[in-house]
Amino acid sequence: THSKHTNVVLVGATGDLAKKYLWQGFFDLYQAEHAKGNTFSFYGGGRNNVEAGGPILQEIVTESRKCSTEIDSCIQQRENFVEMVKYHRLKSEDDYGELCRTIEVNLKQSELEESGRIFYLSVPPFAYPSISANIHKFCRPKEAGAWLRVVVEKPFGHDLQSAEELVESLSEFFSEEELYRVDHYLGKQAVEEILPFRRGNWDLEAMWNTEHVERVEIVMKETIDVKGRLSFFDSYGIIRDVLQNHLTEILTLVAMDAPQRGNLSDFQLKKLDLYSHIQPLTSEGSLIGQYEEYNDQWQDELQKEDKDISQTATFAAVVFTINNDRWKDVPFVVTAGKKLDERVGYVKVVFRKLLDDENCIKRACPHNQVIFHIGHGKLKVPAVLVSKGLPKPVVPMGWVEYEPPADMEIFDLPASAYHVYTPEVVRDAYSSIIESVYHGQSDRFVSSPHLLESWRIWTPLLKELEGKEPKKYPGGKEDSTLQYVLVDDKLYFLSDLLVDQNDAFAFS
Ligand code: BG6
Repeated sequence: THSKHTNVVLVGATGDLAKKYLWQGFFDLYQAEHAKGNTFSFYGGGRNNVEAGGPILQEIVTESRKCSTEIDSCIQQRENFVEMVKYHRLKSEDDYGELCRTIEVNLKQSELEESGRIFYLSVPPFAYPSISANIHKFCRPKEAGAWLRVVVEKPFGHDLQSAEELVESLSEFFSEEELYRVDHYLGKQAVEEILPFRRGNWDLEAMWNTEHVERVEIVMKETIDVKGRLSFFDSYGIIRDVLQNHLTEILTLVAMDAPQRGNLSDFQLKKLDLYSHIQPLTSEGSLIGQYEEYNDQWQDELQKEDKDISQTATFAAVVFTINNDRWKDVPFVVTAGKKLDERVGYVKVVFRKLLDDENCIKRACPHNQVIFHIGHGKLKVPAVLVSKGLPKPVVPMGWVEYEPPADMEIFDLPASAYHVYTPEVVRDAYSSIIESVYHGQSDRFVSSPHLLESWRIWTPLLKELEGKEPKKYPGGKEDSTLQYVLVDDKLYFLSDLLVDQNDAFAFS
């Protein structure tokens, strides 16, 4: 294969996300591809003029690029990378015209063959339509066969209708194949491993159904509050922030029929098929909370926004039921919250106890489980854990068997109860996302039909919650107000069910 040249434009080049993750991701891409003889031009765009924006960008790119190892070749590449990134003001239509003429001129001079163009829009969604119009007008590659990929970040709407409008407005400029909607949780290593794990362990996959699985839990607990993001968060809430996107995406990977490897249309169809069996969510049996300090903490801001009391949820737990043969009677409990007692993210597939196993009468033996540990928590690193009572999993390429400290308890069991494997190299989700854009792996992104299906499921619940008061919980604590139980596919806060604390054992 001959070498490829790719033009990369990062719009919003000096913003927070770019600073924290995106330039690192592009540097990782540059390093990996440089070794294969592939080349790049990098342009960073922002609303500042070149005199102000240029030095800011230089500083960001210089200071925050990490070499995974401090070896000379990496340091040399980092210098080259910093040198390559050029700032352009991108404010008006003319600015886009000028940038894209520059791209053409540079291409001509270098006599390189262009493979394609990436435009990464790290800007608020209200800016998408005008930027998209400009890209479409001035920036499409001219060479036959060269592709255009436009990358956008959530929020993708705030309900079904607004999402439809956003899809519609972007489709004026780009085809579905050209649009890459990022959900950075799809770039987390433990999440990326869900489908390969299922394909690689057919004995477990054969048990991936209602006959063997009792329930599935998908959990994202955070300890931080929403400091500094109130005006965004308050109009949005935890459901739109992480459940509608990150956790729903994860659910589809766990629950869909495993598609053939590398077959995009099979993937798209099987994911859509799963969605078609998911009932829209309602408030019945859903638990919604807000940390106690929320309103006090942000009193000033709330007044500025001309509101008195905010009902925005900072915690939510819901149950998905999937009406197909595979998942009939298996609740999928999906939970996320801010200012909780710990930071951890995971998917737990809990298997039924074997009724004919003498040792397992009642609570004498634990459930077997498969856990995709996304990060943080006690383990800190991404990991896959499989109970030793289940078939031993195959360790995939790029992962290694891992032995946690013997005295460590993971999910209520000694670490020795599980086979554990972790990635050889832990890397950031955005580096993986950027690599997937470059390689055109569309199944790592959220397509328009899937996006709308997810909103179809969440919108009825969101509508019902408008103006409803969430249950208050004390931030930062493992409190009974937040402990819940599942009874007949519905969630109940334990504290609401308990007449007297001694009843607690009945549900544990
Ligand atoms: C973002 C949410 O998408 O994900 C944040 O907007 C959340 O509220 C964040 O804190 C968590 O991501 P990560 O990668 O830090 O787990």
